[in-house]
Amino acid sequence: MARRKKIYEGKAKILYEGPEPGTLVQYFKDDGGAFDDEHREVVEGRGVLNNRLSEFFMTGLNGIGVPTHFIRRINMREQLIRAVEIIPLAVVVRNFAAGSMSDRLGIPEGTALPRPIVEFYFKDEELGDPLVTEEHIIAFGWASQQDLDDMVALALRVNDFLSGVMMGVGIRLVDFRIEVGRVWDGDFQRLIVADEISPDSCRLWDLRSGARYGKDADGSDPHKLSEAHTEVARRLGVLPTNVTHATKPTLIN
Ligand code: C5P
Repeated sequence: MARRKKIYEGKAKILYEGPEPGTLVQYFKDDGGAFDDEHREVVEGRGVLNNRLSEFFMTGLNGIGVPTHFIRRINMREQLIRAVEIIPLAVVVRNFAAGSMSDRLGIPEGTALPRPIVEFYFKDEELGDPLVTEEHIIAFGWASQQDLDDMVALALRVNDFLSGVMMGVGIRLVDFRIEVGRVWDGDFQRLIVADEISPDSCRLWDLRSGARYGKDADGSDPHKLSEAHTEVARRLGVLPTNVTHATKPTLIN
């Protein structure tokens, strides 16, 4: 049997050549995710849930006219996506202070920000994905001013959509990260949402109890992390309501 060609392997995902030019197959692994090395745990079923959740969010975004790389889910762990040229920046949107913003600026976690704040981080693992300014981005040629404007607009639309969806299931979207890719439609290039949108790249707090479900669920405890992913999927209706344990999720079609 012919082996398909692996294009890239990261901590959480593998990209294979797709069935048609301009497409790729994105495979979700159980380990990795957006967590630091020390918190990297293998959570059985997490890849399956992230595949489902990313499908759910990206389908919704496509539906309201926010372009993404998502084409369709292929199976439990794989989805067909558009091949893009990834911009080497992580785009973070924050609605409430938390994480590195609280650490850097001394703002107590949970403080509502006066408006959503968009930040750019240079994707370089060895450097620890440092925060960069628009000046750095333009001077070093990582993106143009037009790209930056488009990325901010895209990120804010994703923020409105995701905040609303999560609010509808009693969860506060504290902050999240997206990646953006460039595609060409004929002579025109445009930017679309790429990579994944899942609890691994979001900070999600329960509106009432304050319980943490996303990025800062207890990453040192694989069981808690797995519960957090399952809870988000359950509330969004991506899992049937009778699933109580995350390790072998039964998925509805
Ligand atoms: O750690 P920090 O507060 O900067 O994270 C902001 C947001 O970016 C969080 O929602 C986190 O999930 C996301 N993030 C990520 N991958 C990283 C760093 C942060 O998805 N490597």
